[in-house]
Amino acid sequence: MSEKQNVITIDGPSGVGKSTISRKIADSLGFTYLDTGAMYRAVGLYLGRHNVDIADEKAVYAALAAIRIELFTIGTGFGDVGVLLNGEDVSQEIRSPEAAMVASQVSAIPAVREKLTRLQRTIGEQGGVVAEGRDTGTVVFPLAKHKFFLDARPEERARRRVLQLQARGEVVDEKQILAMTIERDKNDRERAIAPLKQAGDALAIDTTTRDIEEVSRLVLEAVKGKQAKV
Ligand code: DC
Repeated sequence: MSEKQNVITIDGPSGVGKSTISRKIADSLGFTYLDTGAMYRAVGLYLGRHNVDIADEKAVYAALAAIRIELFTIGTGFGDVGVLLNGEDVSQEIRSPEAAMVASQVSAIPAVREKLTRLQRTIGEQGGVVAEGRDTGTVVFPLAKHKFFLDARPEERARRRVLQLQARGEVVDEKQILAMTIERDKNDRERAIAPLKQAGDALAIDTTTRDIEEVSRLVLEAVKGKQAKV
């Protein structure tokens, strides 16, 4: 049997609490937090800024060669993940709902997934990584030691997104956020390559009625070998 990798994967749709939970788990285990969505967001930003036609495979391929992405931690503890796009700090810009939608669109492009999967695996090679995204347990790290799949009702996920955006001082249209959440899910679940889905060996946790503390506890218990009651 192939050897397992010292990686924890946390996949699921947007708004299930993946980022906060992944950061907490990484922090309590002293692991590196790998936010794969931030990478797709940065690629989407670059292609948009350079008016690259995402239906033009050759143009996308050429543009990708000019993209360098680095992740860094903003602050200490479970601070947000920041992104350097060719050395420029784009951490704020990539977090808008529009940037999320563009990320979802470009994430269906094979060349984009190839480049980012390679980068993610390089980071994972060092071990001690909590990887968060859509395909980290199925495609990027199939041999990860621990895999989780978080899900929640779309209305609840959209409600959380609204609160998050409002906390940042943004004016939001709740109906539009729900519609964008549903559309992005559909894109992510139905694309041909590496769609969002639960790995066969992942533990599924529904976070609709569970708070961050409870979900983090369940994840940590499972990692430490205790039987998690989900
Ligand atoms: O996790 P997030 O909201 O930051 O991700 C933004 C988009 O990037 C998401 O809608 C789909 C894409 N993505 C992906 O295809 N694969 C991943 N492993 C992570 C994100």
